[in-house]
Amino acid sequence: MLFPRCITVFSLILICAADEATLKFKRDSKPARMFTDEELRSYDGSEDGQPIYMAIKGIVFDVTSGKRFYGKDAPYNALVGKDSTRAVAKMSLDPEDLTHDTTGLTEKELESLESVFTGTYKSKYPIVGYTSRRTLSEDGSPSEGFKPEDQPHFSIRDEL
Ligand code: HEM
Repeated sequence: MLFPRCITVFSLILICAADEATLKFKRDSKPARMFTDEELRSYDGSEDGQPIYMAIKGIVFDVTSGKRFYGKDAPYNALVGKDSTRAVAKMSLDPEDLTHDTTGLTEKELESLESVFTGTYKSKYPIVGYTSRRTLSEDGSPSEGFKPEDQPHFSIRDEL
């Protein structure tokens, strides 16, 4: 009768280990944040050792691991600390394109935006939050159409 008892004890150990792993996962993942333009500006890579964030389509990515692209004096530093949707769609670093505004973009530019959004940002950089423009209506109430973006291969951060 020792064998079935061993199996029960072993199963209990496995269940406890799985629970611990789940708890650890939950403790490690931070909830997503909402960023005002001003808050986002403070993650512009100007201070060494600070995280670097940028938004596309109102979704804020932690691009710190791409410091060689986005850090101080790096080629794409102009894109960070803000929502750079238009610049990414047009592959432009013109100051007038460093905005969330997509007015008048061509079909081709919108396709390019989707491709860089999915192929680069969503697959390389974890989502840390959403801009207030994306999450709130003009009167400051929660936006009805808001839906968190899924990112299955990173720990999902879908709480606000
Ligand atoms: C002469 C012009 C340009 C050249 C030769 C160039 C070259 C490159 C190269 C080689 C990469 C891939 C780097 C790597 O993965 O190691 C890259 C990535 C990228 N480029 Fe450019 N680029 C140019 C202009 C621009 C402009 C104007 C923008 C404006 C938005 C831009 C935005 C990006 C972005 C967002 C990435 C992805 C960075 C990442 O992986 O986080 N590029 N570029």
